[in-house]
Amino acid sequence: MTTSIRPTAAESGAGATARFKTDKSVGAAGTSSDRVDQLAREVIEAVHATIRKHKVTYAEYNAVKAWLIKMGESSEWPLFLDVWIEHVVEQVATENRKGNKGTIEGPYYVPDSPECGSHGVVPMRENEPGTPLTWTGRITSTDGSVIEGAKLELWHADDDGLYSQFASGIPEWNLRGTFTADTEGRFEIRTVRPAPYQIPTDGACGQLISAAGWHAWRPAHLHVKVSAPGHELLTAQLYFPDDVHNDDDIASAVKPELILDPQTSQDGSSQTVSYDFVLDPASA
Ligand code: DHB
Ligand code: FE
Repeated sequence: MTTSIRPTAAESGAGATARFKTDKSVGAAGTSSDRVDQLAREVIEAVHATIRKHKVTYAEYNAVKAWLIKMGESSEWPLFLDVWIEHVVEQVATENRKGNKGTIEGPYYVPDSPECGSHGVVPMRENEPGTPLTWTGRITSTDGSVIEGAKLELWHADDDGLYSQFASGIPEWNLRGTFTADTEGRFEIRTVRPAPYQIPTDGACGQLISAAGWHAWRPAHLHVKVSAPGHELLTAQLYFPDDVHNDDDIASAVKPELILDPQTSQDGSSQTVSYDFVLDPASA
């Protein structure tokens, strides 16, 4: 039995920062100078307006300065941005979609996870803790047709709320796998239920959370990226109906359409769930 170690905020942040820097899809945004001028000016002016409205003091200004410095030193920017900002970017980016709702990616996606076929078990340890979960579903296009070669990448936290590759003592690809839909668009995934996830509380994000009297919890969730030739990439998370943090997710990422309806086996030892995906054709 391996023992996993909960990462510190700095370890988690450093891992998320290193992973982000390898992201092939991150490049120049092609934003014009006029648009940079407008966006940067409006963000700065919104900060000015808040300072004037609340008569922010020098002591508070310096506390924020120290906090921002700490945020950078502990590499926590990916954690901060994905918890408090990404959900609005996702909302704006996908507002015209007719297929499935998506939600934020978060900081812990890793591409190229092991292939698991159309019907398979996600990589996991022997005796992986947590309730076994069998998920069946189908991937189709908005016109109802099967899309050949549709892929579903799954990643999620374990029963301790920890992600492989971002906590030590966990096998590299634990609870990360890539499924390919069969000729009818179907897949079946065997995994375990993830536990709710607490964002690290010992760093700059945690300092903000405790200073503001917030909590650090995300409800338990399964992350997915569903992709297919000629279709828009769907990044989503699926949630469980019995989680107390579905209503107050620190990352504001829960949507009613993303809550699963799992059925518990007669002896209570395992669950099954059905959830399908509809992908939007890529816009020309
Ligand atoms: C964070 C962690 C997650 O697992 C997630 O889905 C979103 C955000 C975070 O720690 O920032
Ligand atoms: Fe997550």
